Amino acid sequence: MAGKKRVIVVGGGLAGLACSVKLAELGVEVDLFSMVPVKRSHSVCAQGGINACNDIARQQGFSEWIHFDETILGGDFLADQPPVLEMANWAPRIIDLLDRMGVPFNRTPEGQRDLRLFGGSLFKRTFFAGATTGQQLLYALDEQTRRYETLGRVHKFEFWEFLWPVIHEGVCVGIVAQDMRTMQIKAFRGDAVVMATGGNGLIFGKSTLSVICTGGAVSRCFQAGAKLGNPEMIQVHPTAIPGEDKCRLISESARGEGGRVWVPKKKGDTRPPNSIPEDERDYFLERKYPKYGNIVPRDIATREIFQICLEGYGVGGGNMVYLDLRDKVKEIGREKVLSKLEGILEIYEKFVGTDPLNEPMKIFPAVHYSMGGLWTGYEAKKSSPGGLEPGHYKNFMTNIPGLYAMGECSFAFHGANRLGANSLLSCIFEGLFGGPGVKNYITDIAPISVCELPSGIYEQVVKQEIEKQDALIRSSGTENPYLIWQEMGKWMTDHCTVVRYNDKLELTLKQLQTWKDRYARIRLSDTGLYTNQNLSFTRALRDMIINAEAILKGALARNESRGAHYKPEFPERNDKEFLKTTIATWNASDGRVDIGFTPVDTSLIQPRPRTYGKGAKAENKPSPTEIAPQPALV
Ligand code: FUM
Repeated sequence: MAGKKRVIVVGGGLAGLACSVKLAELGVEVDLFSMVPVKRSHSVCAQGGINACNDIARQQGFSEWIHFDETILGGDFLADQPPVLEMANWAPRIIDLLDRMGVPFNRTPEGQRDLRLFGGSLFKRTFFAGATTGQQLLYALDEQTRRYETLGRVHKFEFWEFLWPVIHEGVCVGIVAQDMRTMQIKAFRGDAVVMATGGNGLIFGKSTLSVICTGGAVSRCFQAGAKLGNPEMIQVHPTAIPGEDKCRLISESARGEGGRVWVPKKKGDTRPPNSIPEDERDYFLERKYPKYGNIVPRDIATREIFQICLEGYGVGGGNMVYLDLRDKVKEIGREKVLSKLEGILEIYEKFVGTDPLNEPMKIFPAVHYSMGGLWTGYEAKKSSPGGLEPGHYKNFMTNIPGLYAMGECSFAFHGANRLGANSLLSCIFEGLFGGPGVKNYITDIAPISVCELPSGIYEQVVKQEIEKQDALIRSSGTENPYLIWQEMGKWMTDHCTVVRYNDKLELTLKQLQTWKDRYARIRLSDTGLYTNQNLSFTRALRDMIINAEAILKGALARNESRGAHYKPEFPERNDKEFLKTTIATWNASDGRVDIGFTPVDTSLIQPRPRTYGKGAKAENKPSPTEIAPQPALV
């Protein structure tokens, strides 16, 4: 195969589409792989909004710098700071771009793009399209991708599953993927490969993530030599509808728009919520955090909800609290609340059966996001006030030259806890900002001319994957992969989410060994070679177990509490020992995960306590001492 250089993008969510569009705009040919039609990628489930400074927020005292500061503080200082500053600086331009692409952002009566409150900020700085923001953004980027498809610059491979990166002399030179309909396994050459494959919620069994979010692709890159950063940092969203099959997100925007979280003051109160008077309700977030109230960052809200239920105050004594929009309906009327939140209110009514504007919703935290993921590097700007060198090939490249990671599957930006509505931003930012760096890599830096490589290099990886598949199909054991997965999900949720104890983590690691053993005796219920989803899931199960090992070992090694990672035995953040990124490496010869650490770049803001005004008086603006001063521009 000779000819033009091309980039492989794996993942059709926001990060993948943004990167594809940017590369195509720069004249690069893109092969875009997705397990589902791109419009069904998990980004479609994002509800609440996308953060950025704009002129209206600026008039109220907000700035890109405050956005950056909030993100770093929200992540409990575990994120490298230059990429986060660059993202915050780019955010307003990204919103303008999306607007021009036709995203139907909500508007104020004056025609301005409307803003809402979101966790971790006292400023309205979240743009939104009702409560289906992710869907609107995804569709807009899909339209742009289609433009480049018609020009022949983007080639979509929908219903293709990424199986393994092709690495030659330490450089990523392509991928092997499987057509999920015909089950054909095939190699594709790429001068660079961009992983944009999203989260790994399925490791925890039930989560708010889509059922394709196994994290299998990341795990495969990990096993092929890519490092993971902070794999232990798992976000549990405070407000979801627990379900038998999965959990369904009830967006933070419900609280941003005035929804109030409460429990009955009396333990085990069995009265229906509408007959519990105001003075018999405990609005515990407002009581404990008068400044931020219901919009404290997710890790804090989740722990408080968890704790109040543990103390027996949950609804009916169980694991549930109320999320109440009735005051908002009284204030602005039903129609206006619907115009901002209809998407999630419909979901609630459909799955629970009651009208959430008439009766408080019953919600509980659920696994939602992985702050950790493939470790990626960057080139920091030397000049003040910092940020990234635009177009530098190192931006968002993993430790394997030619292999990039963007979106939720990367570890950058969110540290130990992601702020709501920063996810859509980081995905699109990485795609748009990272695209030129990928282009510069393939044109100026890549040490290998991929189109000249002998085909044997690729055939060897195809053979490896066919052999793995054959072994699974032939395996005549007795173990049902779905039962192993269910057990793993329960153990991981019980011992490695909101509260973590070292003895329980160790026990889970021991149990993990039994999942590995049982996996060796697996039996598929479908051994056919046409649309075999049983095979795809079972293959991913092994990858999930390995990823779970990285999560558990990372959590075990971090003897402190930081962001989403909370250990009652080590309740404080310990900057002296753990202001460090966890680096997980796969030790292929022993089949084991090794954990190390590397320093965090805190060159722009010094760590400070993260109190969110606990116990303070309510005010509507942070005091100047709560924001790191911006360095002077030169
Ligand atoms: O709550 C939400 O709407 C989720 C947003 C996010 O995860 O950023």
